[in-house]
Amino acid sequence: MIEFYLDSADVAQIERFHSCLPIKGVTTNPSILANAGIGVNGLLKQLSPMLGEQARFHVQVVSQTLPEIIAEAHQIAGLPYDIVVKIPATEIGLAAIKQLHREGIPLLATAIYTTQQGFLAALAGADYLAPYVNRIDVFGGDGVTVVHELQQLLQQQQLPCCVLPASFKNPRQVLEVLQAGVGAITLPVELVAQMFSHPAVPLAVEQFTTDWQRAFAGRLAFES
Ligand code: G3P
Repeated sequence: MIEFYLDSADVAQIERFHSCLPIKGVTTNPSILANAGIGVNGLLKQLSPMLGEQARFHVQVVSQTLPEIIAEAHQIAGLPYDIVVKIPATEIGLAAIKQLHREGIPLLATAIYTTQQGFLAALAGADYLAPYVNRIDVFGGDGVTVVHELQQLLQQQQLPCCVLPASFKNPRQVLEVLQAGVGAITLPVELVAQMFSHPAVPLAVEQFTTDWQRAFAGRLAFES
């Protein structure tokens, strides 16, 4: 089954969707954490008991140089959770991914804006690739096509790497990357809510209630 992540540091919203969906875990980035006003340790400490032992957390390094990224990745990977270390797929990031992959540390190459960039990250040893679907569109590209191309290349080359698309602004983008057969996806909580909301649904449920009460007032289905 697809690994379904929430791209969020909002504990209340994560709890909300954990109660109704099979959440694999949570992805974060430095902006998400900064905007939520919570650090990695504080967040994971709250989420781990809530989501359970099988939960996986994707945590991004903030260091800039290769030795610092390597050292930070070691520290992140050493946290007492199922952790994937996120590293931006820059030249230095690729070098870090190549080195850390040899050590067996689970890695996600992030900030992917082109198919070519993502493919190189997979070659370097990333376990996950995070193409930024909406941000690619904002730059005049086609985020969905990047995801499809990456998925195809990974399969063709039989690379042990999973596309985990990120950055969505509408449900159509989500549907179109799911149709590529991606092994994972991360969504902002607002978009998850949008995906199961439709103006016709409450009207349909209300009609069922009205019809039922007219015919079987006060009774439940099994009592009718
Ligand atoms: O981690 C990357 C992803 O969260 C970016 O999303 O909405 O800032 O483009 P967004």
